[in-house]
Formats: sequence, structure tokens, C-alpha cells
Amino acid sequence: MSDRLVYVCDGGDCSEKGSVELFEKLRNRLAEVDPGEEKARVRKYPCFGGCEHGINLTVWPDRVFYSKVKEDDLDEIVDHVEKNAPPLERLCGIVKKDVEDIIWEMLDSPY
Ligand code: FES
Repeated sequence: MSDRLVYVCDGGDCSEKGSVELFEKLRNRLAEVDPGEEKARVRKYPCFGGCEHGINLTVWPDRVFYSKVKEDDLDEIVDHVEKNAPPLERLCGIVKKDVEDIIWEMLDSPY
């Protein structure tokens, strides 16, 4: 079982900013360092509700909500999820807290 689940937004606004390509690149990078997905799995997510700040990506169960993610950030995100490096503060706290809280409530729920 993976320690972490990384969700990349697949919604319309984030897709327009390149989230589908970003998802593929992140998945490939994670597969290079963690082929069995033992430390982290990456999945798509329909929309986090912070559309104007995309590309959005979350790391669960850390409760880290990254916004305005670009391809250049992926190395550091891989270090975070695979090597327990500290979260990238510059990408955190951009969406409103109540938007984040709704997402954590949903992701924390087993259903
Ligand atoms: S489209 Fe990505 S948060 Fe809504």
C-alpha cells in the first residue's frame, strides 16, 4: 500500500493549462523512482474547486494542496512524495482555506 496519493486535477481549467500532460510527466517520473508505487500513487481528480489557481495538485494524507504547478516544479514534488522532502511552500496556501477543507474532508472519507 502506498504511503501517499497524489491527485492531479483533470478539470476543464486545469486541463487547459496542461494538467493532462503534467499528470503524464509526473506519473513517468514517479515510475522511474518507484515502479511498484510503493511510496506514492498518482491519480487524476475531477476538480478541486480552485480552478483559477490551476494547475492544482494535492498530496494525501499530507494535506498539501499545490497550486499554479508547472512542469519545472515536478522534480521537487517527486522529492517531496518519494523522499519526504519538505513541501514546496511557494505553491501552498494559494486557494482559499475553505476550498482546501472541503477537499480534505472528501479525501479523508473512506467512501
Ligand atoms: S479545473 Fe482544476 S481545480 Fe477546477
